Amino acid sequence: MFRLSRAVVLAGTAFAALATPAAAQGQVTVYCSILEEQCREGASIFEKATGIKVQMVRKSTGEVYAQVKAEATNPRGDVWWGGPGEPHLQAADEGLLDEYKSPKLAELHDWARRHAEQSKFRTSGIYLGALGIGYNLETLKGKKLAEPKCWADLLDPKFKDEVQVADPSSSGTAYVFLATTVQRLGEEKGFEFLKSLHKNISQYTKSGIAPVKATALGETAVGIAFMHDMLTQKLQGAPIGIVAPCEGTGYETGSVSVIKGGKNPEAARKFVDFTLSPEAQDINAKLKINSIPSNKNAKLSPDAPKFEEIKLIDYDTPRWGSPAERSRLLKKFDDEVKALPR
Ligand code: G6P
Repeated sequence: MFRLSRAVVLAGTAFAALATPAAAQGQVTVYCSILEEQCREGASIFEKATGIKVQMVRKSTGEVYAQVKAEATNPRGDVWWGGPGEPHLQAADEGLLDEYKSPKLAELHDWARRHAEQSKFRTSGIYLGALGIGYNLETLKGKKLAEPKCWADLLDPKFKDEVQVADPSSSGTAYVFLATTVQRLGEEKGFEFLKSLHKNISQYTKSGIAPVKATALGETAVGIAFMHDMLTQKLQGAPIGIVAPCEGTGYETGSVSVIKGGKNPEAARKFVDFTLSPEAQDINAKLKINSIPSNKNAKLSPDAPKFEEIKLIDYDTPRWGSPAERSRLLKKFDDEVKALPR
């Protein structure tokens, strides 16, 4: 009798716990560097499943890196969700992130587990995305411009003011482009390439997604961005062509990390487990976002770019994510490329 009533009380408590307003279950502050709609959907699924209230702030990857660094003595964020691996790796190396071996690591593809190991478990891989070129077919036709097939095509003076890419200091996407160029051509030739391209750039945007949206709207003829982001616009009906450049291209390892010294470490680890689970990674297929998920059991969007069909360079994420390389390349880009007149 006693046992039964105790069990009933316990069951009642558990139910009450689930039904209690979220604040009573704790909270977690997430700096989110994927698309805003993914951030929102993830927060809502996580809140429903755990009762933990999510405070979500969307910022580009380089911006979150700078914020986490600026807040190092009094961290205000708990988790950094998404964005290419390099700024996460730099933060990891600078002691700004906590080590966390999620039990979910066992469910991940090798590339994602390797990424976690290389960072000494201070970041984990959640998705892959290849860099490419998108172009507005109507704008090209109207301006009698040929569809680019290679990175080198973008240097044609006919593309003056017709190319957009983000700023590599704020955008993880644009940093992958900078590092890809330097790795592909070597540093000297890589910077020569970037200087020539600079003449054709209409704007270095803050976020990596901005050139994608501008390409979809025909505000720029050409955008340099992740192919999966261009694809999302194309699937929504934008007149976009997408190419994996003929010389070969680099890619991102989308990452998630626990911020060191955050106020809610336990909730942070739960949130990281969530981002590595199919529940969170299936958001991609649901919202027709076509990056490649790291959990083997997550749904792969049928439209996702096929990595085996893309000519990839042997892109070295740990190298370009080392503090010395990333800081040096960004400064050099500011001093030697961005500062030039156009
Ligand atoms: C989009 C892409 C992600 C990428 C992120 C980087 O959300 O879908 O794959 O990691 O942009 O954003 P950023 O603004 O830092 O370039």
